[in-house]
Amino acid sequence: MKGVILAGGLATRLRPLTLVTNKHLLPIYNKPMIYYPLEAMVKAGIKEVLVTSSPDHAGHFANLLGSGEDFGLKLYYAVQENPKGGISDAIILADEFAKDEKILVLLGDNIFGFDLRESVEMFEKREKGAMTFGIEMPTESKQYGVIEKDLDDNVISIEEKPENPKSNIAQTGIYMYDNRVFSFIKDLSPSQRGELEVTDLNNFYVKEGTMKCEMIDWWIDAGTSFDELLRANKMVAEKVKSGELQ
Ligand code: DAU
Repeated sequence: MKGVILAGGLATRLRPLTLVTNKHLLPIYNKPMIYYPLEAMVKAGIKEVLVTSSPDHAGHFANLLGSGEDFGLKLYYAVQENPKGGISDAIILADEFAKDEKILVLLGDNIFGFDLRESVEMFEKREKGAMTFGIEMPTESKQYGVIEKDLDDNVISIEEKPENPKSNIAQTGIYMYDNRVFSFIKDLSPSQRGELEVTDLNNFYVKEGTMKCEMIDWWIDAGTSFDELLRANKMVAEKVKSGELQ
């Protein structure tokens, strides 16, 4: 299974911090943001990772991360010509890189402690389908994709930032897909905000009945606001000091 980390987008919500640099290079306590998904890939046992970014910033990632040797990974880079094309528009850049393997996709601004190794091993054995990861969020789930699932973790629906959420499970930025993902993306149309949405992609699998959801404990989308960026910094600092994180 191959890894894909998405580090594009314009990060307008974090301006002026992101006027001359990429959001995923901002610090989260003692490391650049992108280190967290990269380290999650390493923990998950993934050996080859593609980092996608915007034309203005792709070189910055290569300068920082190089070949990936320091992480024990082999890194590849891809440029998303339209940095706001959407998450699915970035995922499709991994088509040739993935060859016929399954992929683990991580959004580059997601900070979490969950160890994905077991989930990766289980997913590798599945014949087909996809996997999304959710987190209980009693009050703010409607800022995210919202997942409705049954007791066997089969996903019934996913809605992107709904007015009236059907559950309090927010969709995180952790996804696993079989190799059909690239042909599904080719059938997507841009949403009202002009993006090829990950939720529309995930709903191909939901309709097919092959989308599962696993719940995780703590998770922060550090890119949503200054407050979430600050919260991520504070939380990671606490976890480093308590020895839970390095
Ligand atoms: O973080 C979880 C949420 O991420 C999910 O709950 C939503 O279902 C999903 O749509 C997404 O929502 P956001 O609106 O928060 O996504 P955002 O535009 O902030 O982009 C998330 C990451 O993907 C960010 O690290 C940048 C990267 N990205 C985004 C876009 C739009 C790209 O690499 N290319 C892009 O074109």
